[in-house]
Amino acid sequence: MIEVKNVHQSYGDTEVLRGVNLIIPENQVTALIGANGAGKSTLLNVITRLVSLRDGAVFLDGRDMASMKSLEIARTIGVLKQTHHISIRISIDDLVAFGRYPHSRGRLTEVDRAMIDEAIAYLRLEDIRGKYIDELSGGQRQRAYIAMVLAQDTKYMFLDEPLNNMDIHFSVEIMRILSRLVRDMGKTVVIVVHDINFAAAYADHIIAMKDGTIAAEGSADRIITKEILDDIFGFNFNIAEVAGRKVCLYFSDEPS
Ligand SMILES: Nc1ncnc2c1ncn2[C@@H]1O[C@H](COP(=O)(O)OP(=O)(O)OP(=O)(O)O)[C@@H](O)[C@H]1O
Ligand SMILES: [Mg+2]
Repeated sequence: MIEVKNVHQSYGDTEVLRGVNLIIPENQVTALIGANGAGKSTLLNVITRLVSLRDGAVFLDGRDMASMKSLEIARTIGVLKQTHHISIRISIDDLVAFGRYPHSRGRLTEVDRAMIDEAIAYLRLEDIRGKYIDELSGGQRQRAYIAMVLAQDTKYMFLDEPLNNMDIHFSVEIMRILSRLVRDMGKTVVIVVHDINFAAAYADHIIAMKDGTIAAEGSADRIITKEILDDIFGFNFNIAEVAGRKVCLYFSDEPS
């Protein structure tokens, strides 16, 4: 379990996380939703220590992360950032092998190689695994980065907009893979997702952010309501039910 306690974060004078308290339940898919600029990536970056915490505390399985070493954290938490900046020319194979670094420290064992092969197969990248990252389509590149995080084989996986650039087929496939990792392998997955219908369909737990705070959290049934979504996105939603699932429609011309 990850516990976030009274976290504040600022860039310059602007406070972008304003006293966040939350628990990320184990062995579930948690979706972080909210408008652009709500603080989702900042929260994810603070929890995974991509940026250092200004005020508050994050506990990883009961331990204050401030007292943990980077290597220990990298063996426990895998992160897919929202944007990737990679300046060296490497192949998919090499990128995915990077995911093993916290375990292999650069010397790949048979186990490491098996994990790399498995991650590449999971993301259906076998046929192009020798290709360079800068030669891939946006969706293929995104899949390669997800494979890298998968190969890291951590208990917790944080993925910031993993469905970016992904076609519908792969979006569904990725969500199924993540559900399977949770169900069959005991992982805990946190994703930032803009398509609320994906959150509604695949997340066990939804955290809705607004202006640097947690506006609402709970099961999809509790969060996917017109009242909560209209408030979070400043929009006029229609919520329908199709085949027993909640579906959000957002094509209304009516003002909110
Ligand atoms: N490195 C930075 N320096 C200054 N301000 C930043 C920085 N990163 C984010 N911010 C600001 O912090 C606020 C929260 O940004 P954040 O990236 O966490 O939002 P988000 O919810 O992930 O949005 P999006 O859906 O657009 O990715 C925004 O107002 C943003 O402009
Ligand atoms: Mg973001």
